[in-house]
Amino acid sequence: MAAGLHRAKLPPGFLWGVSTSSYQIEGAVREDGRGPSIWDTYCRRSGRIANGDTGDVACDHYHRYGEDVGLMHQLGVGAYRFSVAWPRVMPAGRGAANEAGLAFYDRLIDALLSAGIEPWLCLYHWDLPQALDDLGGWTNRDCALWFADYAMLIGRRYGDRVKRYATFNEPSVFTLFGYGLRKAAPGISDYTQFLRAVHHVNLAHGAAVDSLRASVASASIGAIHNCQPCRAATRNPDDVLAAQRLDAYWNGAFPDPQLLGRYPASLADAMAPHQQPDDLAQICRPVDWFGLNHYSPHYVTASTENALGIGFGSAPAGVRRSTMGWPVEPDAFRETLIGIHRRYGLPIYVLENGTAAHDAIGADGEVQDQPRIDYLLAYTGSLFEAISAGADVRGYFIWSLLDNFEWGSGYGLRFGLVYVDYATQRRIPKESFRWYGRLIAARRLTNAVSWG
Ligand code: BGC
Repeated sequence: MAAGLHRAKLPPGFLWGVSTSSYQIEGAVREDGRGPSIWDTYCRRSGRIANGDTGDVACDHYHRYGEDVGLMHQLGVGAYRFSVAWPRVMPAGRGAANEAGLAFYDRLIDALLSAGIEPWLCLYHWDLPQALDDLGGWTNRDCALWFADYAMLIGRRYGDRVKRYATFNEPSVFTLFGYGLRKAAPGISDYTQFLRAVHHVNLAHGAAVDSLRASVASASIGAIHNCQPCRAATRNPDDVLAAQRLDAYWNGAFPDPQLLGRYPASLADAMAPHQQPDDLAQICRPVDWFGLNHYSPHYVTASTENALGIGFGSAPAGVRRSTMGWPVEPDAFRETLIGIHRRYGLPIYVLENGTAAHDAIGADGEVQDQPRIDYLLAYTGSLFEAISAGADVRGYFIWSLLDNFEWGSGYGLRFGLVYVDYATQRRIPKESFRWYGRLIAARRLTNAVSWG
């Protein structure tokens, strides 16, 4: 691996961080006035979550946030990306705010600041208030206005202490799986509803940027996109076409209108019926950075099982895979970073990268997760290569601080640097936690160490 010998000078102030999201870690779903979210409903009704798991308790972060901030302090990260649960702070999604819910994030933010960790606040990591879904959720154009009001509430409340805001986490994922393929909340599979949701989420992004600019002095704003190469799983022309279709949607349907003011050409006709004049100007608001989540490439097949004609295949033989079956291809990470840099010209923050395993506590009480360290070593190598090749990358955040509720996989897959014993809620830093801590400390000292 060329990266093993690589030396990269990181930009001054390069941020090392970790990420989490509200529904995946907080628990306390019925406490202090929180309203239900679409994930509470989906977990109960869909029958699609492994082991019947729910986010009811998760990592109990709502009560244990102090300990979790302590772990981040020990790790040495400069930043923590978390999301606010919209139904915790506005139980019905619009109208009255919930003071007890708002106060939780006050406590979290203050603890982070006291520990010298910069809070990065994401407004939306998939837990839409159920009351809004009852009104059509993202298929209802008004949802963009409700989101703008919610963003204003957040900006006014935390803007004195929080400067970094992301509007959405991975809109391509939650619209496709939630409205196109019935694989995530709210569990719809309808092509027209899906396209409407895509457009309304884009409108909501633009409206939220306006709310945050109006309510937060010196705000630094972006959105978080999951960009992955979409490769045909075989040479079959139908698979090749399906891969192109997914690519336009997955990598283009959100960043292109938000940053270039247009939908990808191949989607323009499908999106047209859902647009009103001036919508694209409303969506394309100046932002400060591009948030990138990246894990691995997609291998795509044609499918007749859904209106999109898209199936997710497996990587060809010879491609290395993680425990959870995702391809391990660090070169794709480097190429993605360079491609985004060229296309959008914004500073990039990698806000998720990491890998899952079925980690377990050993006889000595430690959690050895060498495969995760190998993955992170390879991917940070590619990160350094991309920076050396000119990509303007300013930060790197690992998914995730803690093992947590991994959506459809429930608690079966562990992404954390810290192992969570769900029976006792005991946190056990894994070997990768120590590895990341050493990386951060070494980089802080030299900013140009040899790596390998
Ligand atoms: C999401 C996380 C998720 C992670 C691993 C990303 O798509 O933002 O919520 O846990 O990937 O699947």
